[in-house]
Amino acid sequence: MVRSIASRIRAIPPSGIRRLFDLAQGVEGIISLGIGDPVPAFDTPEFIKEAAKKALDAGYSAYSPNLGFLELRELISTKYKQEYGLDYTVDEICVTCGAGEALYLACQALLDPGDEVIIPDPSFLTYPPQVSFAGGVPIPVPVYEENEFAITVEDIQENLTPKTKMIILNFPSNPTGAVMQASDLKGIADLALDHDLFILSDECYEKLVYDDAKNTCMASLGVQDRTIVVNSFSKTFSMTGWRVGYALANKEIINAMMIIHQMNAVAANSAAQMGCIAGMKNEGALEQFLNTMLTEFDSRRKLLVNGLNFIEGIHCLMPKGAFYAFPNIKGTGMTSAEFSEFMITQAKIVMVPGNVFGAHGEGYVRASFVASSEQIKEALERIKACARNIK
Ligand SMILES: Cc1ncc(COP(=O)(O)O)c(C=O)c1O
Repeated sequence: MVRSIASRIRAIPPSGIRRLFDLAQGVEGIISLGIGDPVPAFDTPEFIKEAAKKALDAGYSAYSPNLGFLELRELISTKYKQEYGLDYTVDEICVTCGAGEALYLACQALLDPGDEVIIPDPSFLTYPPQVSFAGGVPIPVPVYEENEFAITVEDIQENLTPKTKMIILNFPSNPTGAVMQASDLKGIADLALDHDLFILSDECYEKLVYDDAKNTCMASLGVQDRTIVVNSFSKTFSMTGWRVGYALANKEIINAMMIIHQMNAVAANSAAQMGCIAGMKNEGALEQFLNTMLTEFDSRRKLLVNGLNFIEGIHCLMPKGAFYAFPNIKGTGMTSAEFSEFMITQAKIVMVPGNVFGAHGEGYVRASFVASSEQIKEALERIKACARNIK
């Protein structure tokens, strides 16, 4: 018998991001536009940290219930009622170790080997492996800059087969910053109804929207019973390292997800959940925190995108959500990987090659605007100077 790592893991290609960060490692004066974490810019609100510390002192060192503390699930249920008019009972909510675990649980709970899953391309890089881990088959469906990176019903339809079981959606999107209109999402909801498909809707950038953009909760479009809504405290509450997210779905799906969850994580971190409870209860303070963060990200977004649009060979749509710009670099004549490597070695600026997020991300890079305005200004100067040297 040959000892080896499981073939399903060996089949996952090495992360393009890791190579990039290896290249950037230890380079003095490097500015990273590569990160997807709000915490360096905005630490978790103090009152949330205090609540978690107090919880530890009060003995919250034990496991929580598998689905998460009841009070937290009650608060989540109220939020969905108030904000989207949706009714979820507390046993239709599972608190998880970040949205990442919720995505994993949903794929494991719903996919049989060979089931096909429609995934926008480009999109968050964990979706295809999550589907593959469950034995499913990722079916990338291109999204186009001309269409502001929205996924269309027609493109989904073209890729449907009798094996299609689920559609993964992520708006506001990582990496494109796209936010889809409710009317367009409604078309996808109707398609899911017609073809008896599940929808896995990752809405973890829900609150990070700009201008007149608005998050639409997929479940509110007449498909609550077939939709798994995934959300997270990571981005909205700036709590990435605390590892708390959640899923909302019908009881049958949540029960299936819970079986896997209790055999693995058991429950999300107890003290961290207590912090989340404090966050959700203190609506006024949270709103203030969010407004400050949003105002700042909005101004960094405009600074970055307007600056990029002045650089030869680059043009960039103004993203409507999340904290990522997705500039088109095709005019430089370089591939995404060549451009990223060139910018790291010549300009000391980290940007993630777009093809890391799917084959149709080729010709783009992801530049995040969680970096400070000063860093963004400096990054733009350096990119501009280097872009001139691209032959
Ligand atoms: C689209 C998307 N979904 C899920 C996650 C994972 O979030 P969490 O920290 O809640 O696991 C991320 C993190 O970057 C993300 O961008």
